[in-house]
Amino acid sequence: MMSADSISAWHPVARSADVRPGANIFAGFAQGQELALWRSADGTPQAWENRCPHRSVRFTLGQVVENRLSCAYHGWQYAAGSGQCKSIPAHPDMPPPSNLCAKVFSAVDAAGMLWVNLAGETAQAQPQDDIVPAGWSFCRTLAVRADAASLHDALARRGFASDTATAAWRGPLGQSGTVALVLDAQPLLAFIHLWTDAAPGTAAMKTLHIAARSLRSEIEEEEEEESRRPQSAA
Ligand code: FES
Repeated sequence: MMSADSISAWHPVARSADVRPGANIFAGFAQGQELALWRSADGTPQAWENRCPHRSVRFTLGQVVENRLSCAYHGWQYAAGSGQCKSIPAHPDMPPPSNLCAKVFSAVDAAGMLWVNLAGETAQAQPQDDIVPAGWSFCRTLAVRADAASLHDALARRGFASDTATAAWRGPLGQSGTVALVLDAQPLLAFIHLWTDAAPGTAAMKTLHIAARSLRSEIEEEEEEESRRPQSAA
């Protein structure tokens, strides 16, 4: 059985549908780690540190070439899966050193999201599709100027309950049932990926969008108020 602690090592960094095979390199963050997200030709998700090991240029400036990510600066190419450098165009006859690798993190698709594990422990349980009930729709992603712990507290105060994963919160919003997948992106920046039982294009979905924007404003105001509060003497 999955434990909440092991699941919480997985971060919902992007919607799976937004990272398409061969099409784009998607920038992401998890706990301050900047990521380059992309897919190999067979659709396998890739989550790499967004930094070329040669001269630290961001991989998100590069392009996907079949099963490799090609850096925008000198065109060195790194293989999907291992991250190992396979080609140095300026030295076509020289095999790249075997230890020349991009930093690669574990990545999986589940419940319509792309999840990344920064810990590098493959034994940890992976997120499952049932985190979001079958047939539910994606509403939107909210960027919230607050840290993830404050966001969790704010959701709990509003009657949301943490589910099988600490990143997943269930509760009512607007007139709809929702699952809020919380991403700890950076200090003082979190994202809520909001899934719902409201159908796309309905009045309930419209109401949910309005309620989601209000929720963000309320949480950011609470966060600001908290930061203005004088610290009590030790
Ligand atoms: S900086 Fe990436 S190939 Fe040189």
